[in-house]
Amino acid sequence: MQLCVLESCAEVASKAADHIQQAISEKPDSILGLATGSTPIDTYKEIIGRYEQGKIDFSQVRTFNLDEYYGLAADHPQSYHTFMHQQLFQHINVPRERIHIPSGTPIHVQEYCRSYEQFITDCGGIDLQLLGIGSNGHIGFNEPSDQLSADTHLVRLSEATIEANARFFERKEEVPQYAITMGMGTILSAKKILLLALGIEKAEIIRKLFDTGVTTDIPASFLRLHPNVIVLVDREAGSQLVGNIKEFC
Ligand code: GLP
Repeated sequence: MQLCVLESCAEVASKAADHIQQAISEKPDSILGLATGSTPIDTYKEIIGRYEQGKIDFSQVRTFNLDEYYGLAADHPQSYHTFMHQQLFQHINVPRERIHIPSGTPIHVQEYCRSYEQFITDCGGIDLQLLGIGSNGHIGFNEPSDQLSADTHLVRLSEATIEANARFFERKEEVPQYAITMGMGTILSAKKILLLALGIEKAEIIRKLFDTGVTTDIPASFLRLHPNVIVLVDREAGSQLVGNIKEFC
């Protein structure tokens, strides 16, 4: 994993946007894996700005989102469908039919998960996967557990995640208890991965990511097995990093 500690959240967004812009300029029909949560919002703002300036063209791009809350319809205000449309898709020219977000209301869940997974493979796999990280080390909604799932699957959210995500809902009881998420294998199959972390509340998990081994207790630690991962953090998220971790910026 390559680490890059940047001064501010704005610099993280700008650097992340550089990677996305570069991917699309090298391969206009890039397949992007996209994330939700508060972390990528400024990166999305940055790429919207570059699109408006004519620097990025999304007309041939295809996108696959990591996850969706199980039980929320696409038009629910807190669904990840709504989030992605508001934060990104309605502002850029990615064709609607090239946007893929897991359904939160599939009728046959296992069949649906298999088809989402298969479609990613059939499209040639993800070129660049954007990730945030939960304070408990989850990526997508792959929660710490004795075992992790390889493929897209239905997952029960941990109490910590429900707690953390309650801020987006009026009441904690409204946070769905399950989600559909890409699996660890789906994520690790991406050709390149960009993990972003911002703020002091991510400092501990970022330290653990670099100073513990690969463990299912910290799903993000599996990223250490991938040959092309770039971790972009702001000063606060990088504040507990010690020792001589080499930085690449
Ligand atoms: C959510 C998402 C993750 C995201 C994480 C961190 O639960 N499923 O994809 O990375 O939590 O969220 P935030 O960026 O708001 O800290």
